[in-house]
Amino acid sequence: MRAVVVEKGHPASLREVGPGPDGDGLEPGQVVVDVLWSGLNYKDGLALAGDPGVARVSPLVPGIDLVGTIAAVGPVSSGASSSGSAAPSSPAAFAVGDLVVATGAGLGETRDGGYAERAVVDTATLVAVPDGIDARRAAAIGTAGLTAMLSVLRLERDVRPGDGEIVVTGAAGGVGSVAVAVLSRLGYSVTASSGRADELGPYLQSLGASSVIDRAELGEQGKPLRRPRWAGAVDSVGSTTLASVLAETAWGGTVTACGLAQGSDLTTTVLPFILRSVTLAGIDSVQAPLALRQEAWSRLATDLDLELLDSLTTETTLDEVVALGPEIVAGRVRGRTVVRVGA
Ligand SMILES: NC(=O)c1ccc[n+]([C@@H]2O[C@H](COP(=O)([O-])OP(=O)(O)OC[C@H]3O[C@@H](n4cnc5c(N)ncnc54)[C@H](OP(=O)(O)O)[C@@H]3O)[C@@H](O)[C@H]2O)c1
Repeated sequence: MRAVVVEKGHPASLREVGPGPDGDGLEPGQVVVDVLWSGLNYKDGLALAGDPGVARVSPLVPGIDLVGTIAAVGPVSSGASSSGSAAPSSPAAFAVGDLVVATGAGLGETRDGGYAERAVVDTATLVAVPDGIDARRAAAIGTAGLTAMLSVLRLERDVRPGDGEIVVTGAAGGVGSVAVAVLSRLGYSVTASSGRADELGPYLQSLGASSVIDRAELGEQGKPLRRPRWAGAVDSVGSTTLASVLAETAWGGTVTACGLAQGSDLTTTVLPFILRSVTLAGIDSVQAPLALRQEAWSRLATDLDLELLDSLTTETTLDEVVALGPEIVAGRVRGRTVVRVGA
């Protein structure tokens, strides 16, 4: 099979790597997936560059997302419970031919991921692609779209449409674009913050943003409390942007934080929390429990306009994805990129 491989001391490259897994030697709870599509996430860009914080084993097939059909199912564990307490993802829940999506859970970081024609995946992390979403669109959603929806699920616990403006930072990126699209469709009024506000303003408005601001407005360290502007926020940028958003969030607002495109630092004070009851909510998709992933995927099936998703999606191939790694790390990729693998 063909696979992109990253090996310590070597640039990532597309190679022939032998026949690939065929189901022999699978452990209970594992399946072989014929990969149809993968995606390009910020983390994949880091892995393609050999960043040891992401590519934690060598050699490694990057690709933190994959969508495909099950080609082989491992044996059912002899210890499987029949009491009803077994995870809903027990191997029996999947059959050969099922269309599934896997995101995170070590794929493309500590184990081979989606940039190969076949992959071995733990069923405990697999989600059946919801009806109505095809394989390409599931990959277009991928980790970034799942993370956007996890952010929305957290935000809507505290903030309702009509409460005020929601700011989405890194809005033209993968997480940001899907967050803008979903929040707008749910009736929230969304301000998109982008470093490409001039160039991509019309794009962000087409996703539903009611206004677009230059990210420089939020990018500098300033006072810890400023004029309240936001009822809530979805931040994928971190650093001084997140500090500014916290400083400008109104009483009782919630800010979700999932990313570090600007930096992993966060210099703030307790003032937004103790004087405005602001909540800072962390979002992690990689180890999110299966029930939460399933809830998020089923909400994506109803609350994401799939034609809008198509409009924010670009397609590439295994041959071309290596060259795109530095582009996403530099913040030059727009929306989501799907990687055609076996489709
Ligand atoms: N916690 C999780 O489970 C999880 C899951 C997915 C992603 N993430 C993280 O979330 C972040 C976004 O991921 P993604 O896949 O959406 O990446 P992406 O497509 O590259 O989007 C990131 C966006 O951030 C903005 N940006 C880039 N550099 C910046 C800088 N120096 N200062 C301010 N803004 C900057 C850019 O948007 P504009 O051009 O619009 O400014 C860029 O498009 C990454 O840090 C990623 O690791 C976390």
